[in-house]
Amino acid sequence: MLLYWYLAKGSFWAVKLLLFFFVVAAPGLLNGAIADPSTSLSLRHEPVQPLFYPSGLNPEKITLGERLFHDQRLGRESRMSCATCHSLENNGIDGLTRSMGRDKQGMLLNTPTVFNSSLNHRLFWDGRAHTLEAQINFVVEGIQEFATQWPVLLNKLKQDAQYRRSFSHIYSEGITAANVRNAISTFVRSLITINSRFDRWLLGDVNAINSEEKAGYHLFKKYGCIACHQGRNVGGNMFQKLGVFKAFFGHDKHARSHLGRYNVTGKEQDKHVFRVPSLRLVVLTPPYFHDGSAKTLKDAIKVMAEYQLGRNISEQDIESIIAFLKTLPGEYKGRVLSDGATQDASYKNTDDPE
Ligand code: HEC
Ligand code: HEC
Repeated sequence: MLLYWYLAKGSFWAVKLLLFFFVVAAPGLLNGAIADPSTSLSLRHEPVQPLFYPSGLNPEKITLGERLFHDQRLGRESRMSCATCHSLENNGIDGLTRSMGRDKQGMLLNTPTVFNSSLNHRLFWDGRAHTLEAQINFVVEGIQEFATQWPVLLNKLKQDAQYRRSFSHIYSEGITAANVRNAISTFVRSLITINSRFDRWLLGDVNAINSEEKAGYHLFKKYGCIACHQGRNVGGNMFQKLGVFKAFFGHDKHARSHLGRYNVTGKEQDKHVFRVPSLRLVVLTPPYFHDGSAKTLKDAIKVMAEYQLGRNISEQDIESIIAFLKTLPGEYKGRVLSDGATQDASYKNTDDPE
């Protein structure tokens, strides 16, 4: 309970305590507490757990949600869909430093992947949305996103006979804001990348990862990365400050986009605090950080070691950790996610409008 409170607070002391706990004190004890013994007898007791496809998702809602996710009519000018910024062919991101936004002037934040996002305890860099449904409201009304209102959006959908049929087939109330949110959220919940090499190793396949990758995982724990990036999503379950051991932000430290959680709570101690990102697909989703300021994984890891852990890290250790991180992306619809997709920096929308 106390530990949980410290986690939620995300203060400097919390990190020290956590580091002590994970690295020095009792990894065995905690791992035992995290792992669910009922999942599998051969599941390794580790602070990272495997992903499984969620049970109980209605396939018809997934199909409907997938169509809505790709439908550009949702945007005010009928030219923007969720997929405009979260391209599934591009690992759920736009590949830009910061998202362009509706006015194409550029938003202030980097676009996180939608894959596995349903597993994060809060959504957005500042964690302002508690659920996927709430997150969709921000998109619909956000001036740089759909910039519309629900009644306008619903009217557009109601003109589509196929939507009218699908909605009334699945939901007794037909096309409503709550049902649109429900369908899109159900689709997003289905975007789980399963069967990664690392997960197969966690489940007992000793050959799923090689010795260098294993050494990288060991370093990831030894340095203390695991104190913040942990659990099923290798992150996404706590808030932490960027700049624990020394201040990360210079003269622009008062910029709204860098204030993070403070924008939600107004509390001084929440300045520069962010929802810790998941590292599940991190090797596929450059650039990094809330403002896209780290171009490569190497840059990001250097910053992490220096500012979050107060450590210098050797090139060799960085390479090892990257080797481990490369074992984390799993499969979606039977295909292992990879960086084979072309990164499209223009604002072209490749969705099929109908
Ligand atoms: C104009 C680009 C754009 C569009 C359109 C867009 N997003 Fe996003 N999305 C972003 C950016 C940028 C963020 C991070 C914003 C923040 O943290 O404040 C984000 C964050 C998210 C997150 C949170 C991920 C996490 O790990 O916290 C989810 C989930 C998400 N979007 C899903 C959607 C869905 C569903 C739609 C369509 C209803 C959508 N997005 C439309 C750019 C976009
Ligand atoms: C004290 C908590 C903490 C520790 C320890 C920590 N991180 Fe992070 N990590 C964060 C936070 C918070 C962010 C988001 C920062 C931001 O974007 O503002 C982050 C972001 C990242 C990112 C960028 C992810 C993305 O999608 O943009 C990578 C990569 C990363 N961390 C790797 C590591 C590695 C490797 C270690 C160990 C050397 C480590 N982290 C240690 C809290 C931590």
